[in-house]
Amino acid sequence: MAYFSRFMPSVFIKTYGCQMNERDSEQVAQMLQAKGYDLTQDERRADVLLINTCSVRDQAEQKALGKMGLLSHLKRERPELVLGFMGCMAQSRGQELVDRLPDLDLVLGTQQFHRAADCINLLRSQFDGGRRPIIDVSESSGSESTIRDHVLRPRQATAFISIMQGCDMSCSYCIVPTTRGRERSRPIPEIVREAEELVASGVREVTLLGQIVNLYGRHEFPASNGRSPFVQLLHALDKIPGLERIRFTSPHPAGLRADLIGAYAELPKLCEHMHLPVQSGSNRILRAMRRSYTRELFLRKVDALRSACPGIALTTDIIVAFPGESEEDFLQTCSLAEEVRFDNAFVFRYSDRRDTPASSMTGQLPEDVKQTRNQRLLEIVNRIARETLASAVNTTQQILVEGPSKTNPNRLAGRTRNNRTAVFEGDASLRGSLVTLRITRSSDHTLYGEPVP
Ligand code: 5AD
Ligand code: SF4
Repeated sequence: MAYFSRFMPSVFIKTYGCQMNERDSEQVAQMLQAKGYDLTQDERRADVLLINTCSVRDQAEQKALGKMGLLSHLKRERPELVLGFMGCMAQSRGQELVDRLPDLDLVLGTQQFHRAADCINLLRSQFDGGRRPIIDVSESSGSESTIRDHVLRPRQATAFISIMQGCDMSCSYCIVPTTRGRERSRPIPEIVREAEELVASGVREVTLLGQIVNLYGRHEFPASNGRSPFVQLLHALDKIPGLERIRFTSPHPAGLRADLIGAYAELPKLCEHMHLPVQSGSNRILRAMRRSYTRELFLRKVDALRSACPGIALTTDIIVAFPGESEEDFLQTCSLAEEVRFDNAFVFRYSDRRDTPASSMTGQLPEDVKQTRNQRLLEIVNRIARETLASAVNTTQQILVEGPSKTNPNRLAGRTRNNRTAVFEGDASLRGSLVTLRITRSSDHTLYGEPVP
């Protein structure tokens, strides 16, 4: 094996965080593959070990640091290994990471993913002459257009497309504007071409990614016929023959206007699901979070979406125990969850991020309050999620078959248009195709059904 790896070096990439990060890792993997690297899931076999990091909560950073600590043991036996951090934590901590972990060779920020392969080749060539770590967290104009290549599995049905980078909002708890920089968007024709290439390779569903995806192009491209650049992009993608489904994540409630709501009625490929982060149900806390909408406005937008697109599934993100959140504020969030009846929600305990405005606010709450509120809200969210899922029993649903079920490889799994996982018994050749199921039962997270001829 050692003999083989001299000719075909291999790389292991571990990814934490959001879909954007998954996408960035895929780009790095593709570039390394193009330069003759083999991708491996086996960290002990790899010559290059990369961790793509997330900074959004402290827990994500601690996990990545712990993992790198473990990987650096491998370097004691094989000092030629290349160890690298990429992404959001690399961006926000830079040099500090090398000071803390002297085995680290590479720290690559969120605008430098496209340089990964060159940096790694350089580091590998320098082994005999003594290496200096490469730390690059600089800005790079045009970097938003460098996340465009894919590593597709055979018969892969779904793919992500990064349409923009960065975030110009200033939510007081959030580190992302620091880690991802200013908003920059790719031109529509470039994104359409990427989607067409994916479709030519067999992909049937694309998910558009951006930190505030519905604000796509607002600094670069004009509105046209009352349509924002994002809605123009959706229209352009809807015309691609062979593409069956379009999704996107995540929008901001503030930019959710009539043109986007109207798109659900106009665009047959746009799937009936929106992940719409609300963060809190208390106006006082929303203001402290600098979320630019009120509870009432959020509820009105939900109503408008549900009238334009009956049955649309809504999921959300909620932060509990934000600084200064009283029991009354928290109960407002619980009542919002009851009122909207989200299909599902990610509930996060507020995590202090350094240099954010919320970090220095008074009223920081102790761990036990975070824990209890998290638990209380989860009980509400999970109960409603279970009930909503159960209401799909006895309906028929279109499924895009993604592959074998994770829990039972003899079954196939896919998602409904409103993004619920559905499992059924069927032939492996159905992978990548659309199947209609009659839903026969539901569990906490999954629908089960039988194909309708
Ligand atoms: N603490 C807890 N959750 C956070 N999020 C963002 N910043 C923080 C933080 N400091 C959550 C938000 C966002 C999701 C991606 O992560 O809910 O929508
Ligand atoms: Fe984490 Fe946000 Fe960076 Fe994604 S963009 S990896 S969620 S910090």
